[in-house]
Amino acid sequence: MPERPEWKAPAPLPPAPDGKLRGVLGGTALYDQPRHAEARARLDAFVAGETPLAVEIGFDHGMRILDHARRWPDIQWLGLEIRKRRVAAAAPHAPPNCLLWRADARTIFTQLLPPGRVSWVYILFPTPTENPRHLLLTPPFVAGVERSLAPDGAVYHATDVQGLHEHAAGLFAGWPDAPMPPMGPVLSRRERVCARDGLPIYRLCRKRPLPEGE
Ligand SMILES: C[S@@+](CC[C@H](N)C(=O)[O-])C[C@H]1O[C@@H](n2cnc3c(N)ncnc32)[C@H](O)[C@@H]1O
Repeated sequence: MPERPEWKAPAPLPPAPDGKLRGVLGGTALYDQPRHAEARARLDAFVAGETPLAVEIGFDHGMRILDHARRWPDIQWLGLEIRKRRVAAAAPHAPPNCLLWRADARTIFTQLLPPGRVSWVYILFPTPTENPRHLLLTPPFVAGVERSLAPDGAVYHATDVQGLHEHAAGLFAGWPDAPMPPMGPVLSRRERVCARDGLPIYRLCRKRPLPEGE
């Protein structure tokens, strides 16, 4: 098997002077614009209530999240994906407990999800980009995940890129191990490739660190 090039996280972008996240699709003020009010209201309605909420980031063709939503109808499944065509192709197949949305997960986690609302976050084989503007796993994003997770919620990350796993492990250092979230038999596209080609998969599943003093 050919050797895979080592991946190292790109140097982070300097913080924006207004404190907003750099590089995110449409900018962090996107959902303040009236033309996105309807989409935002749809998200707010979808995440309202206390039904457990699972979020899959970068669902690609959506096979996995669609299967999970049918398999676990008592969970709300939110899928976030930045590629317009993927979302347009998958969204018509979503059952009522599944919302597939074209959105940048970094904005949604840092700004739109209600604090403490999410039971499980699935980050499956994120792109090992060398462009800091496109990097998903950064300290502000992890702070957004921490903000959005329920006290017993968990984040699950899987990758076949060792450097990316080490990067994630560094960002989630201090987060205790958590039980695995619901996992059906349908694998993501990349996980199928890894199984086919015998590539190693590095996984971590962590829960929020306890607030200091607890
Ligand atoms: C390498 S692919 C992996 C796809 C799928 N999760 C899998 O395991 O096969 C990464 C996916 O994440 C999407 N993506 C990248 N950055 C994203 C972001 N900030 N928010 C939402 N989706 C993102 C990409 O469009 C792409 O579909």
